Amino acid sequence: MRVIDVLRVSAAAAVLTVAVWAPLHAKHVQKESQFLGSAQDNSKELINQGRQIFRFDTYGDEVFWTGQLHIEQAVSQLTPVTALGLGLKVDSEALSPSVGEAIKQGKINLNDPAVTIALIKQNAVLGVVGTFSNNTLEKVGFTCALCHSTVDDSVVPGIGKRIDGLGNRDLNVGAIVAAAPNLQPVVNLLQLAPQDAGITVQDVRTVLNSWGPGKFDAELFLDGKAFNPEQMTNGMITANMVSGATLMPNARGLSGHNLHTWTGGWGTVTYWNAFVAVNELHGIGTFFDEWFDDAIQFPIAAAAKLGHVSVDPDSDQVTGKLAALHFYQLALPSVQPRPESILMRQRQRAVMNYLAEKRTAIAAIMSHSGLNRAGISTPRRK
Ligand code: HEC
Repeated sequence: MRVIDVLRVSAAAAVLTVAVWAPLHAKHVQKESQFLGSAQDNSKELINQGRQIFRFDTYGDEVFWTGQLHIEQAVSQLTPVTALGLGLKVDSEALSPSVGEAIKQGKINLNDPAVTIALIKQNAVLGVVGTFSNNTLEKVGFTCALCHSTVDDSVVPGIGKRIDGLGNRDLNVGAIVAAAPNLQPVVNLLQLAPQDAGITVQDVRTVLNSWGPGKFDAELFLDGKAFNPEQMTNGMITANMVSGATLMPNARGLSGHNLHTWTGGWGTVTYWNAFVAVNELHGIGTFFDEWFDDAIQFPIAAAAKLGHVSVDPDSDQVTGKLAALHFYQLALPSVQPRPESILMRQRQRAVMNYLAEKRTAIAAIMSHSGLNRAGISTPRRK
């Protein structure tokens, strides 16, 4: 090829490149490629699905809470006042504005269990999902929102707009479970641990009632250890009989983290989500982890084969939801300061202002009395 031809070809190529690349590039800036779908549309879809799952999906756990523990009987007798006292939260946005207003004005009887049932029917009680036959509550199941969401108290304390992903530090899960008429299935499970072989329903109720508000022992069903007889810190016994229950953590700002839970030893969010849905909520799904076969560390999990739970894929109500659930949790931004901490800072600021004023006042008094910075005494002092 002669030099002139090379130049001609490259000039043509340059024109072509600019002609083809420029509009493509411009298009790319305005709109992402639609090849295999749009990431933005997909993320919106996943967030919507994940939010729905997080708030309302029981994974079929009614088989345990209703089918075995008959907790729907206890829930049917709950007045709204008792429910709020147990830390259950009500989503004001699920109610009509007139109902919200009536609650504010005290025109709704919060001592009537029928009101609780009506609230559950409207999907207004966070994390509590009812199945109804007319107005009779037939089944109750729980969702992740029970422990990992709360409300902003904008109507009255316990009733307001939902906040997904904040740990519910008022919720007394232990007292709620202890109210179930039949705790024998829990006793049967715990009895698998050699140290709990003689445990009774009364013992289980005592443990559940020992947790208190905002706490849950996520590992009790694995190891049967309700209390730590000797808590060691740096080789020293620092406390005895410490409850295994931990504070409800926030499920927010989780992206980029691994090894979840307070102890930080539990794998990815998806892993933990599958574990909770299958082995804590007792939903219908699949969960594998051979670590649970360690009978020394997890006597119950090993005996009950909690690390080998599998159902036929057509009836699995957990696995197919994990992607969207995970996506939603990762999308929830990290926690902003809680109102208490804002209040605390305001209080601190007030104290600082007070001290600063006092210092100025003291300085003024001291200088008046002659003890000025130079340390020169005034004649008055002599
Ligand atoms: C009964 C209350 C309760 C329910 C229901 C519950 N959780 Fe939790 N969750 C907890 C507690 C307590 C912990 C802390 C466990 C620990 O540290 O031992 C926790 C920990 C977590 C963590 C780890 C957070 C971190 O910062 O590492 C995630 C993620 C999580 N839960 C997601 C879920 C999902 C998803 C569901 C529903 C499938 C769910 N939880 C249902 C009480 C609950």
